[in-house]
Amino acid sequence: MIPESFIEEVLSRTDIVQVIGRYVKLQHKGANWMACCPFHKEKTPSFSVNPSRQFFKCFGCGEHGTAITFLMKYKGLSFPEAIKELADDLGMEVPEDPKAKSRQAQAKTLTDYLAQAADFYHQNLFHERAAIEYLKGRGITEATAKKFLLGFSPSGWQGLEAIFKGEAYNNARLEECGLVIKKDDGRRYDRFRSRVMYPIRNPRGQVIGFGARTMVPGEEPKYLNSPETPVYHKSLELYGLFEAREAIHKKGRAIVCEGYMDVIQMSQAGFEETVAALGTSITPEHVKKLFQLSDLVYFSFDGDAAGFKAARRAMESTLTIISDTQKACFVILPQDEDPDSLIKKSGPSAYEAQLTAAYPLSKFFVMDIIREVAQGRGLRTAEERAEAIAIAKPLLLRMTAQALRQMLVQEFSAALRMDPNELAALCGIALVKEAPAKTVAPRSFTGYGRDANQGERFHRPVRAVTAGPVFANIKRRLLQCLLTHPKWLIKYSSQIEDELLDAVDEYEEAIVKIWRLAVDHAQKAQDAESTLTTGYLLSFLQNDPQYEMLADLVSQESLLETNEGVADYEIKCAFLKLEKARLDATITEMLAMEERGDPVDAKFLERLFKRRQAIHQSLVEQSTQAVDMVMDATLT
Ligand code: UTP
Ligand code: MN
Repeated sequence: MIPESFIEEVLSRTDIVQVIGRYVKLQHKGANWMACCPFHKEKTPSFSVNPSRQFFKCFGCGEHGTAITFLMKYKGLSFPEAIKELADDLGMEVPEDPKAKSRQAQAKTLTDYLAQAADFYHQNLFHERAAIEYLKGRGITEATAKKFLLGFSPSGWQGLEAIFKGEAYNNARLEECGLVIKKDDGRRYDRFRSRVMYPIRNPRGQVIGFGARTMVPGEEPKYLNSPETPVYHKSLELYGLFEAREAIHKKGRAIVCEGYMDVIQMSQAGFEETVAALGTSITPEHVKKLFQLSDLVYFSFDGDAAGFKAARRAMESTLTIISDTQKACFVILPQDEDPDSLIKKSGPSAYEAQLTAAYPLSKFFVMDIIREVAQGRGLRTAEERAEAIAIAKPLLLRMTAQALRQMLVQEFSAALRMDPNELAALCGIALVKEAPAKTVAPRSFTGYGRDANQGERFHRPVRAVTAGPVFANIKRRLLQCLLTHPKWLIKYSSQIEDELLDAVDEYEEAIVKIWRLAVDHAQKAQDAESTLTTGYLLSFLQNDPQYEMLADLVSQESLLETNEGVADYEIKCAFLKLEKARLDATITEMLAMEERGDPVDAKFLERLFKRRQAIHQSLVEQSTQAVDMVMDATLT
C-alpha cells in the first residue's frame, strides 16, 4: 500500500503536460497543448491537454482523464504502477513498509536476472539449427522471433553458467526467479533445457518469466512454465500484452486467445492486438487490465470442450468487471480449428469474419448456459429451465453493470419463454422500470445561521425538495463548475454544508465528496490554491463509482471553457435557487400545519419569509438569465 500522503504529494507536484509530453508530441495552442490523439487514428490534432485543469480530452474520440488515467490507459499500468511512474519522474521514491520494500528491492534484481537469461536464450536461438528449423516449419519469421524475443535454452544441465559464471550460478536469486532448480542434495540445474523459449513480459516490458515448449512431438509437458515468483503472478499477467499494447490502442480492441502460439501467429498475421492467459483461466484481474486499454474485448477460444470451458471462465470473470459502456464478444471457432490453423488455411480475412460474427456477451451468456444444460438442443423440460436459472443466478448477481444486466435478463427470459420480471425476481434482482423517485432521508433543518434545533419543531420531516429533475440540472451544472474551478469549493463551504451535506442524489453526493477532498487538501497543503486542480481531485476518485460521471462533466466543460468569474457567479446563483426551493417547501409545510391548527412558531415562519424575499431579490439582481442561458446550453 502506498501511503495516501505520498500520493497527494506526487499528484500536487505532477504536471500532466510533462507526463503526456513524454509519449505524445504536444504543441502549444492558446492555453492548451494539442496533439494527434494517441488513442485513435487521426491526421489533424484533436487531443488537448489543459494544464490549469490538469486534464486531457480528445475531441475526436472522447477519451479523457488525468495524468494517472493517461498512464493507465496508454501504458496499461495499474493505479500503483502509475503512481510509481509519476514518482520516478519526480525523482521521488515510493515509501513502503519494510517488508514490501525488501520485496521490491528483490523484485528489481529478479527481473535483471530474467532479462539476462532472455537475452542469452534469444542469442542462442540463432546458433541452434534445429530450433530455427522448428520455428520456420511453423511459419514464424525472423522479425516475429525478434519481436517476441523467442529463444532456445541449451541442452546442458547448467547451460546458464555461460552467463552466470562460477559462483554466480549458485546465487539463490536464480532459484527465486525460477531459472534454476535446487535438488535435495544441493545440486543445481537449469529448469529450462532444450526448449523453445517464450519470454513473458509485464506491461513495462520487463521479462518476468518464461514459457518453454518442447520440440519433441508427444513429450510431456508440452509447455514448461515459470513457477509463481515475486515478479510473476500468472493470474495477473497476460502473454503478449506488452507487445500488443500499441495495437490495442490503435485498433480500439483487444483479442484474447488460448496460448503462446496463437498470440505469435495472430500478431504475425496482422492481429497484433492479441494476448493470451498463461496456462490459466482468464481472471477478473485479466479482464480489468484489458478494459483499461480498450472498451472492446474479444475472447477467441477453440471450438472444443477445453475452449468452451475457457470461454465460460472468461465470461464469468468479465461479468464481474464489465461496465455498461464496455463490450465483450466471444468468438467460437469451428470444431478443430484454432486461430493459427484458420488463418493459415483461409487467411486473415477469414479470421476477421469470425470477429464480425462473434457473439456479444448477452447472446453468449444465454447460448452457453443452454449448451451446458441441454447440449444446445434448446430447453425442453421445466427441470432444464430451472437448472438454467440456477446457473444464471449467481452470474447475474455478481454483475455491477445495471443496464447490461437488465439486457441479459431480457435475453435470457426470452430463451426461457418466461416473463423477465419473474426471472429477475427468481434471481433476486430488481429490474429497473424507470428511474424510481428517490426516497429521501428527512433533511434536518440547518440553514440560516445553522438554526439546527428549530428543525426539531417539525413533527413531520420536510422532504428534500430539490430531488426532482429540474434541480438535478441545477446541481449537475453546480457540480461541473465546482469540479472545474475547485477553488470555489472552499469559498462555498458553508453553502455546501447547509444545502448538500445529507446528499439526496448523485450530484449532491459528488459535490460533497470533492468538497471534503478540497477542504482536506486546503488544511494540509502549503500551496493549496495552485495545487488544487480538477485533475488532482479526479485522481483521488479514480476507483470511485462516480469517476466516469465526473470525468464526463469535466470533458464537456472542455467545450464550454467557462472562466473562473462566470463559474463563481453561476455557483452563487445555483445555491440561491436551491436554498429558495427548500424555503418554499418549508413555508408551504408550515402554512399547512397552521391551517390544521398545529402549533407553528410564528417568528420562525416570519424569518423564513424574510430570507425568501432576500433570495428572490438577489436572484433578480443577479439577472439569472445569463445563468439559464449557460445551463440550457449544457444540459441536453
Ligand atoms: P495449446 O496446447 O493449445 O498450445 O495450449 P499452443 O499455444 O497452441 O502451442 P502449440 O501450437 O501447440 O505450439 C494452450 C496454452 O495452454 C498452456 C500454454 O499457455 C499454451 O499456450 N499450456 C499448454 C501449458 O501451460 N502447458 C502445457 O503443457 C500445455
Ligand atoms: Mn493451441
